[in-house]
Amino acid sequence: MGNAYIPFKARIALILQETSSDVDIKTFRIKPADKDKRMDFMPGQFFEFSVPGVGEAPFGFASSPYEKDFFEVSIKKTGLVTEVIHNLKPGDTVWIRGPLGNSFPVEKMEGSNILVVAGGLGLAPLRPLILYMLEPANRSKYKNISMLLAARSSGDFIYMRDISEWSRRDDTEVILTIDRPEEGWKGKVGFPHNLLGEMQIDISDTYAITCGPPIMIKFVSGKLVEMGIPKSKIYTTLEMRMTCGVGKCGKCNIGHKYVCVDGPVFSMEELSGMPQEY
Ligand SMILES: Cc1cc2nc3c(=O)[nH]c(=O)nc-3n(C[C@H](O)[C@H](O)[C@H](O)COP(=O)(O)OP(=O)(O)OC[C@H]3O[C@@H](n4cnc5c(N)ncnc54)[C@H](O)[C@@H]3O)c2cc1C
Ligand code: FES
Repeated sequence: MGNAYIPFKARIALILQETSSDVDIKTFRIKPADKDKRMDFMPGQFFEFSVPGVGEAPFGFASSPYEKDFFEVSIKKTGLVTEVIHNLKPGDTVWIRGPLGNSFPVEKMEGSNILVVAGGLGLAPLRPLILYMLEPANRSKYKNISMLLAARSSGDFIYMRDISEWSRRDDTEVILTIDRPEEGWKGKVGFPHNLLGEMQIDISDTYAITCGPPIMIKFVSGKLVEMGIPKSKIYTTLEMRMTCGVGKCGKCNIGHKYVCVDGPVFSMEELSGMPQEY
């Protein structure tokens, strides 16, 4: 096994501007420099993006795990490392460590209905899961796939190209909602937890996966539990501050769990037994 601290070399192949609001989110398509290197990750896993001389930061994979020649990541400009990444251009060299962490329990979820509730950039780590389930070889393993996708405004949605495609399919239910009314907006208005009652969910047989701002996760998971979905069937992914990403430095612990190796994916049942430090 290789040294988990040594990154591999890769190149930026494509950059897409996702948002048209004051929140700046870009998607980067990244290809390993070594043509023989395959990107093997599962939905929910993350990697460390190293920027020599500046630092490293963890980001979730955002593309289909079936793409083996490249992977994508969607990054919000928030500080030092992300600002440098946002200034990269196609062809630039980057350094990657990973895949790291655990993944969504895709096998355990087989045979059930799936409800995805995402807010803003929270859709990024859930996109590999959605694309995995919609992959022709996997689609029949899951029953109804419903998505409740929220954003502050219409300009804050990421992956509108995917959302249009998912909405056109007859085997998915997709509802979009924004926080406040906007002229010309045809979707819903309001916070996602208030709209869950409108979704066609068979509570007796549903796995729910939610990701977004912590306050959204709190209200959505609370509502789902109130509706009758067991905590063991509600999953989220955490974004604690991290350093090593491999369970050595102790920077990301919550109680006796390390988010980088025991997570970042946790069920609400697991989280309810952990200190509220996230
Ligand atoms: C498993 C995992 C997956 C992630 N996936 C993504 C992703 O797909 N896309 C994405 O844009 N971001 C993601 N993040 C968050 C990302 O790692 C941080 O935004 C990044 O580290 C910021 O680095 P920076 O140097 O630009 O900001 P800094 O200069 O370090 O900080 C800028 C500001 O952001 C705050 N901040 C930084 N990191 C965090 C954090 N983890 N939680 C809360 N506040 C923070 C700081 O307190 C500060 O106010 C993920 C984090 C984890 C742990
Ligand atoms: S980041 Fe070092 S132990 Fe998790």
